[in-house]
Amino acid sequence: MSPSLTSSEPAVKLPVPLIPAPSTSGTTQTSREVLATTAFHCLLWLVIANAIGILIAAMLVLPGINNLLGEWTYGRWMPVHMNLQLYGWCSLPLVMFLFHVYGADRKPMADWARPVLWTWSTALAAGSVSWLSGHSSGKLFLDWTGYPRVLFPVAMLALWLLLTASYCVSRPRYRTYKIIGLALLLVVPFLIYIASNPALYPPVNPDTGGPTGASQLESSLVIIAVLLLLPFGLTERQPQRRWPLPTAWIIFAAETVLCLGLGRADVSHHRPIQWISLGSLLVWIPLTPAYFREFKWHRNTRLWRIAFLCWWSVLIPTGWALFLPGVLDHFKFTDGLVGHSLLAMAGFVSSLLIFVMVQLMGDDGWIFNGTWSFYTWQASALAYVLIMFYAGWREGSDPAFSIVPGLLRNGIYTVRLLLGLLLFAASLDWFVDALTLHKELRQHKAVTV
Ligand code: HEM
Ligand code: HEM
Repeated sequence: MSPSLTSSEPAVKLPVPLIPAPSTSGTTQTSREVLATTAFHCLLWLVIANAIGILIAAMLVLPGINNLLGEWTYGRWMPVHMNLQLYGWCSLPLVMFLFHVYGADRKPMADWARPVLWTWSTALAAGSVSWLSGHSSGKLFLDWTGYPRVLFPVAMLALWLLLTASYCVSRPRYRTYKIIGLALLLVVPFLIYIASNPALYPPVNPDTGGPTGASQLESSLVIIAVLLLLPFGLTERQPQRRWPLPTAWIIFAAETVLCLGLGRADVSHHRPIQWISLGSLLVWIPLTPAYFREFKWHRNTRLWRIAFLCWWSVLIPTGWALFLPGVLDHFKFTDGLVGHSLLAMAGFVSSLLIFVMVQLMGDDGWIFNGTWSFYTWQASALAYVLIMFYAGWREGSDPAFSIVPGLLRNGIYTVRLLLGLLLFAASLDWFVDALTLHKELRQHKAVTV
């Protein structure tokens, strides 16, 4: 558990100094170094993936760029952009979380954290080269093929070995939960390897009849399970025991039962029971903030806590509205879904992950708390989502809208490009701060040694 706790009360004035005084949180120097190195890796991938996002956004405005880059066309850059965002930016903060929970950020195992991170990053680099060379399974987020299809699961297994070794050498609390966690984590690399096989089921799967209330509820419940579990690995509970915590778990259990009971075959979003069941998620809009208030948070997390909770309370009703009869029929395969993806990933998931990293890094979390970068990221992501929803709505009525160049279409895509530059600038700001922190910690180590 993080020793660097304050109550959820007043925030420090943000941003905190560029080079802060040595941590007073009680976190060890070794742990600070491991967490800072992990932040460096995930921010590096965010910056690279965002730069690629700018490139593909530019290609949609100026298709001539495709000719300049030869075989490295839009279709090859697209999986690189998406996979680096998912397996680089969105996954490495969870690796940081696991390091912390299993004690891999502390002696005696901490020295192994760096090789694990480099194996992970090497697998991502190899994957990018292979996708750019035109090798892909064609499956969304499961494009792994050839050597990278082995290398990435190997990186995951290296992480698993480190976590298991850290578990064995320390005498951790919550042993049963941690063993269950290790057992579940062991399955993931094998699943990724197997599911990436296009022969198992094809990239466009004729056996699935599209989204159902059950499938949407299922994936949303996985996200809610992560939200409910995260605080236990990050911090301690407030001393008073109040209603939100048991209520949240009871509602989660009830929705799981509902989800298991919902029809899956031959159903559509036109059936009221499907969209009414999905509507049960709306209860999480007030319940999630109440649940998070039951825990103690580091004062540096305040901005990002508010941000992820705000995005969450926008994601649930808009995601639900997207599924409604008439709406999904209009939005399907349009830019509207690109807007939803960005809302979910750049808005909600990114804010949640930065919140997790700031909580873990404690005083060192200042790297994410620059006022300019925070508001630039949030405002640009929101504007991006809004213009994509608008473009999607137009495209739903006129499928040629996003394909045939026109003043409005080009205008929207140019604004998206400009917003992409702002998102990139914010991520670069965090990356530069992460480098500064890294250097600072090394200097500190050199002085103390
Ligand atoms: C972390 C949270 C979430 C992520 C990362 C996420 C991501 C995605 C992605 C990538 C797609 C595919 C977009 C496309 O086909 O272009 C999608 C579709 C969709 N999502 Fe989400 N989503 C999240 C939460 C939600 C929630 C909470 C709801 C509902 C309450 C929801 C409802 C939908 C619907 C209805 C679709 C359209 C499905 C289809 O027609 O294929 N999403 N989402
Ligand atoms: C510099 C910022 C960014 C720019 C300029 C950008 C640009 C783009 C573009 C042009 C597309 C293709 C849309 C299409 O199919 O027409 C796209 C898709 C996508 N991007 Fe980004 N992106 C950025 C940041 C991000 C971030 C931060 C994430 C996630 C954390 C992300 C995740 C995705 C996903 C999941 C898709 C697929 C959407 C879908 O097909 O539904 N992007 N992006």
